[in-house]
Amino acid sequence: MKITGTGSVLPKKIVTNDMLSEFLDTSDAWIYPRTGIRYRHVISDEKLEDMAAEASVKALENAGIKAEDLDMIICSNVVNEYVTPSLSCIVQGAIGATCPCLDINCACAGFIYALDIAESHFKAGKVKNVLVVCAEEPSRMTSWKDRSVCVLFGDGAGAAVLTEGDNIKGIKLSAASATDKLYEKRILEPTPYVAKEEENVPLQMKGQDVFKFAVKASSGDIKYLLDKLGMDAGDVKWYLLHQANMRIINSIRDFLGQPEEKFPTNVESHGNSSSASCPILLDECNRKGLFKPGDILALSAFGAGFISGAVILEW
Ligand code: UT7
Repeated sequence: MKITGTGSVLPKKIVTNDMLSEFLDTSDAWIYPRTGIRYRHVISDEKLEDMAAEASVKALENAGIKAEDLDMIICSNVVNEYVTPSLSCIVQGAIGATCPCLDINCACAGFIYALDIAESHFKAGKVKNVLVVCAEEPSRMTSWKDRSVCVLFGDGAGAAVLTEGDNIKGIKLSAASATDKLYEKRILEPTPYVAKEEENVPLQMKGQDVFKFAVKASSGDIKYLLDKLGMDAGDVKWYLLHQANMRIINSIRDFLGQPEEKFPTNVESHGNSSSASCPILLDECNRKGLFKPGDILALSAFGAGFISGAVILEW
């Protein structure tokens, strides 16, 4: 398959580090050097499903195909206001598609996992056009009283249209269960048989453990693919990494020994938008005309689970 269209949407509300320091014991002087984040876009009166649909429409327009041409929609999402139906079904109705729909929750690595699922369907000859849409609202998962977590995230939606082609060179998926490092728990409906008191636990994170995992997993996934494909790091023109933290991006860059200009970023103005991060960055770079036909791109993402993945593709 190949990527033929991209789209993205950000919420209009911008929250700067200084705005956070008005109600949290934090500061730009703490946040920026540790994360590279200056501000993030946060949902206020938008609905995530509308953003997902809008990003999808932009990707379809960019690809020059119609919603009715789609053979599958894969939506990557951790949390939205509906437990059921799936977000992909909601998007399907909103954009006027009629194809099968599938939601996945692979945390921040969702875009890479969705590409792999789509690629398998292309290889099986089952599809000609697939929409992948990643829509996330981590701002609704964190406690806004917990300065160690809420400052890191922003919301958004990113989408890509995939059509037949031979542009995916390799995909590596990884998972290593470590469920106490990054998690959120929600309250389920009570039953006559559940005795224990349950409580909602907003997003919890052992930051330094996640940091170490992120650098190791992302570097490892990319290196695995490069070796498998007989390439070296210099053969890749653009590295699009999960935009969680500038220090993580720089550590992976150091490992790969590649120059800064190969690593476009938006973490400064977006924060970490979970699985939407990679496709939003991809769309922004695409619309700036950064990629030329034949360019080799490496995308890599990591997150809760722990789950990670990387893809190397030709533009
Ligand atoms: O998709 C994956 C998502 N997650 C990530 O990518 C996160 C990976 N981890 C990180 O990016 C870093 O670990 C953080 C940026 C989260 C934290 O940086 P750190 O240098 O590891 O800080 P720390 O957790 O060791 O905290 C250092 C201090 C603590 O105070 P004490 O105990 O030294 O007095 C924290 O309470 O900084 C304090 N702190 C803050 N201070 C001001 C934690 N958050 C804040 C804050 N503002 N927002």
